[in-house]
Amino acid sequence: MRRGLFITFEGLDGSGKTTQINRLATWLKKHGHRVLLTRQPGGTATGDRIRALLLDSHSKGMTPLCEMVLMFADRAQAIAQVIKPALAAGKIVLCDRFTDSTEAYQGGGRELGIETVLELHRLVCSNLQPDLTLLLLPGLEPSLARARERNQRIASAKKSSGDENRFEQEENAFFHRIRQQYLKIAAREPARVVLIEGDHSIKEVHEQIVAAVAERITGLGTGAIHP
Ligand code: TYD
Repeated sequence: MRRGLFITFEGLDGSGKTTQINRLATWLKKHGHRVLLTRQPGGTATGDRIRALLLDSHSKGMTPLCEMVLMFADRAQAIAQVIKPALAAGKIVLCDRFTDSTEAYQGGGRELGIETVLELHRLVCSNLQPDLTLLLLPGLEPSLARARERNQRIASAKKSSGDENRFEQEENAFFHRIRQQYLKIAAREPARVVLIEGDHSIKEVHEQIVAAVAERITGLGTGAIHP
């Protein structure tokens, strides 16, 4: 079966992924591509409920294993309901976070180790791999400050008691471990992962992303095979 292209965005909270994924979606559409934009956790009705459970700071005492399995439950739903059908229809799927996030946050950050994460990925996700991963790693301190400020702003503007602050409340050492694990993924899979490190302007990062994507879309629609 002909397939589209599966592109994931990764990085720490506040790394500018959301801005960049939206910009890339606009650029791709302008160039005539059909795009599906989604995110994890979330992106389906079931996934949005799992997301609320995972990110709300009121979810106290959630164990790292429970957290990891919920991330995969969300992903299983998203792959079946959204990602695979879109790829099969020849679309370019842009996904804000995928299994690299679980490897970095639960494997590295929560210190569960990467073997369990990769094994679950094989079992639950049929080992589906992105064609390209854009890993944004600006400096740790500015990213975290941006993420914490943004989530506080959203939480205080919301009338309901729910928020998305649970991860941002972690200490910096947690995010340092995540960053280190992301760097290991980039070193291990250089053909898939394009690492954009350091602080650059939004425009500069967009240009680097477009260059990486342009290389991959040249052959799109010419018979790339679904794994
Ligand atoms: P989100 O608000 O989407 O963060 P961002 O906009 O920075 O991507 O929240 C997602 C949070 O969930 C983020 O802190 C990373 C975390 N996460 C994991 O810990 N493991 C995972 O597998 C995924 C997909 C996300």
